[in-house]
Amino acid sequence: MKPPSDTRSLLSWFSANRRDLPWRSAHPDPYRVWISETMLQQTRIATVVDYFHRFLAAFPTLPDLAAADIQDVLRVWQGLGYYSRARHLHAAAHAVVRDHAGVLPATSEALRALPGIGEYTAAAIASICHGERVPVVDGNVLRVVARRLRLALDIRTPAARAEVLAWLAPRLAAAPHPGDFNQAMMELGETVCLPRSPSCPSCPWSSCCEAARSGTPENWPVKAPAKAVPTRRQTAVVLQRPDGAVLLVRRTGKRFLGEMWELPAKNAKGLAPLKAGRPKSLGVVRHAYSHFKLLLSVCRLSVPADFPALPDSAWVLPEELPSYPLSKAPKLALGLALHQP
Ligand code: ADE
Repeated sequence: MKPPSDTRSLLSWFSANRRDLPWRSAHPDPYRVWISETMLQQTRIATVVDYFHRFLAAFPTLPDLAAADIQDVLRVWQGLGYYSRARHLHAAAHAVVRDHAGVLPATSEALRALPGIGEYTAAAIASICHGERVPVVDGNVLRVVARRLRLALDIRTPAARAEVLAWLAPRLAAAPHPGDFNQAMMELGETVCLPRSPSCPSCPWSSCCEAARSGTPENWPVKAPAKAVPTRRQTAVVLQRPDGAVLLVRRTGKRFLGEMWELPAKNAKGLAPLKAGRPKSLGVVRHAYSHFKLLLSVCRLSVPADFPALPDSAWVLPEELPSYPLSKAPKLALGLALHQP
């Protein structure tokens, strides 16, 4: 089947403009594609490239990742955010070593059975590495198609997704290399069909795109009003011993920021001895997580050398802090505490 003319123009644009990325090659390696696609889910390419090199240097193969300590994986991931991605990579590597002799399965269906591999990642790996004809639909692809069709639906709705999938299906079916088609769609969204200022003159679809024809392509995709993000207020305490060590606690398990380290909450169980002291207020740090904004008041209290620790906690000297994976808010809070007399 000959591809429609828009697919041909897209693919020739991609072959002339495709970025040289460290996980791309004539024979893409599924492990590298998996790591890169996981990192790319919530993070821009420019940031991902450095993290990708560091991750591959630390864990060159899937069995190396499976054998690693989760704390080492989180340390390499530190700063990328959305830490469940790192925990899932680690858990999935374990499952692949246990159930698939250390080799990632080749079909999108089998990939989706692994922890943290959803429709998007499974389709990316299977189409790019094994030529499976499955569409990859990320925010960029939704925007490109919504503009192309002047879609009247909010792209976050299932109905919009269904329209986009229906539009993609015959094009993907006719593309010589499904992985190239999928990557071309994403790359068009990332480099040309930008959210606020699309560069229509450089687009292979400038003459067939309905939104471009309208003269105001940035008005698509249409958006329903966003939900307000709640604010949470918490107080963290920096307990500091005479030798300078501060108490960090580890968050448990699989919950939000699980396995990461943070400061104890001021009202944490086990901090009753605090009642005797008078913590000094140091200020407030703010950080926007994906689903809430955090206003974290930070205070500090000097405690004696024999102050009891908490469950799952450690006394950490300032120079040892880099070995403890910390998310943004506790990092900012410690910055406040350690840089004030
Ligand atoms: N964004 C996320 N994954 C991508 C890929 N494989 N190619 C281009 N852009 C992407």
